[in-house]
Parts: sequence; C-alpha cells; structure tokens
Amino acid sequence: MLSPDVESAMNAQIAAELYSSHLYLAMSAYCESINLPGSAAWFAAQSDEEREHALKFVRHVVERGGRVVLVGMDPPPVDFGSVLGAFEQALTHEMNITQMIDGLYGMALQHGDYASQVFLQWFVTEQVEEERTAGEIVQMLQAVGADPAALLMLDRELGARRSAG
Ligand SMILES: [Fe+2]
Ligand SMILES: [Fe+2]
Repeated sequence: MLSPDVESAMNAQIAAELYSSHLYLAMSAYCESINLPGSAAWFAAQSDEEREHALKFVRHVVERGGRVVLVGMDPPPVDFGSVLGAFEQALTHEMNITQMIDGLYGMALQHGDYASQVFLQWFVTEQVEEERTAGEIVQMLQAVGADPAALLMLDRELGARRSAG
C-alpha cells in the first residue's frame, strides 16, 4: 500500500507531468507559428513523452492500491519570445521537475517504500537526460545567434528527433 504522503506526492507528480505535456504542446504550436517546423516536431514528441511519464505514475499508483486524483491545470504561456526562449523555459521547467522527483524519492526512502524507490529510479535517470538534452539545445541556439541559415539547419536537425527517449 502507498502511504497517504507518497500517494498525494505521486498525484502531484501526475499533475506536473500532464502540465509538462501541455507546456511542450504550447511550445510546439509557438514554434510552428514562427516557421520552425523541426523545433515544433521536437516539442510535439516531447509533449507525447510527458504524457507517457504521467501514465507511468498513474499505473504505479493504481498497482499499489492508491487512488488517482486528477486536477485542473493552469494554462501554459502562448508566446515564448523566441525559439531560444522556449528551450530556456523548457530547461528551467525540467530543473523544477527534477527537484520534484528527488523530493519524491526522498519521501519514498523515508517511508521505507522500496517499490516506489525502484519505480522512481527510472525517472531519476530520465531527468538527467532531460536536463542534458535541453541544455545542449540551448547552447546550440546560443551559438547560432542571429544567423538565419544556421538556425534553419539546426531546426532541421531538431526535426529529425525520434520520439521516445
Ligand atoms: Fe517528465
Ligand atoms: Fe526524455
């Protein structure tokens, strides 16, 4: 059985992952609006991945006999200033998500909840990847600067991303 503390923290994580999915869909639409289809595809794939994260938590809560409680969410922004702005905000967002995952892990440890610790290990690793990937793209966009040809090339590269991962 999940302890009430862990259960409510897992529900907060479900809300956060669903918000991530929403946020990246908004970033995808924004990139589409500034004619960067590759970046739009990258964020669309990321949005799908975040929904999968939420579903993993849903399954874990259900399997452990907990109750899934879905809540409403705040609307994500519409305008991100630039594609660099979008990726910078994605990186900041993932850093916050990492803190939540670490907090959850600490709570599972405190409660002697071994099953949740094992479950959360995948997310600990995933967050390392998420921060690294977003950070790399921010750096590449900073290097591109105001060079439109380089930006279009990078955009095409981002569009080649395979989903899941
Ligand atoms: Fe996630
Ligand atoms: Fe990922």
